[in-house]
Amino acid sequence: MDKNPLAVNIAGVKFKNPLIAASGTFGYGLEYSEIYDVSKIGGISLKGLTLLPKEGNDSPRIAETPSGILNSVGLQNPGTKAFVNDYMPKIKKLGTVLIANIAGNTLEEYAQTAKIVSASGVDMIELNISCPNVKQGGMAFGVEPDSVRAVTEKVKENSSLPLIVKLTPNVSDITKNAAAAQKGGADAISLINTISGMAVDYKTRRPVLKNVTGGLSGPAVKPVALKMVWQVYNTVDIPIIGMGGIMSYTDVLEFIICGASAVQIGTANIYNPTAMPEILADLERYFKENNLTLEELKGTLIV
Ligand SMILES: Cc1cc2nc3c(=O)[nH]c(=O)nc-3n(C[C@H](O)[C@H](O)[C@H](O)COP(=O)(O)O)c2cc1C
Repeated sequence: MDKNPLAVNIAGVKFKNPLIAASGTFGYGLEYSEIYDVSKIGGISLKGLTLLPKEGNDSPRIAETPSGILNSVGLQNPGTKAFVNDYMPKIKKLGTVLIANIAGNTLEEYAQTAKIVSASGVDMIELNISCPNVKQGGMAFGVEPDSVRAVTEKVKENSSLPLIVKLTPNVSDITKNAAAAQKGGADAISLINTISGMAVDYKTRRPVLKNVTGGLSGPAVKPVALKMVWQVYNTVDIPIIGMGGIMSYTDVLEFIICGASAVQIGTANIYNPTAMPEILADLERYFKENNLTLEELKGTLIV
């Protein structure tokens, strides 16, 4: 029997603990591995990947807000070829669960990217479907349940790795998209991606971000994320990975109580590079002191 109270199994993949670094806030883990032993954390959702290299949006692309950050990085990444040849040999040695976070403009791009990263040695795929879909007139794949299901099915056809579908909160009813992902064959769901927003400089009367709008993350989004995790937990049967504004171990506990099997930590890494090992130490102490396991706490919200 596994005696580790924090161990979690998601779609057959074993995590030492439920703390996963959120995509785009942890790079490929290599810089962080110079600061601490990243094999301690449960996993890493690697920086978003597209088939071909992408430069991202023009600067400024990060704006500070009172309780979080607004970003419009725009999926800057080296592309699948460089990822497989230059990065994977180093990332493989990090000793933690590796999740490739993939995005694309078309179904075919998703399919090809999934195929290439599946052969690279990562453990799972996370589908980022909140990027503009050029072929459908700029609509996001993640907004309409039909396209959520279609892209999920397409990636499942092209990869045998366990698939996490990451949902956008910028919709009227997230449960419909969660159900569509499950129907399409998703093995797990992660949520939330950033909430669309903007920042304005009253002196210049210009938007702070060159891209005008961006995605809000950090403590400001936590109440929205908790609500959506709870809603999705009551809708699907597959495991949920919750995220949005987690800064401390008590935030982690709140997500688990709302039904998350594991969590991702994003903006906290930007504020404090050692946030994850610090949260992990607190979490280990809490579970020990309370003689609890993660599984016993999951979905125990009393309403
Ligand atoms: C600078 C930055 C870059 C991000 N890049 C990605 C990305 O490449 N793919 C993705 O799925 N999510 C990306 N995200 C979203 C995060 O993974 C996460 O869903 C979101 O920030 C909410 O969690 P947090 O409040 O803990 O940061 C990014 C977020 C930030 C702040």
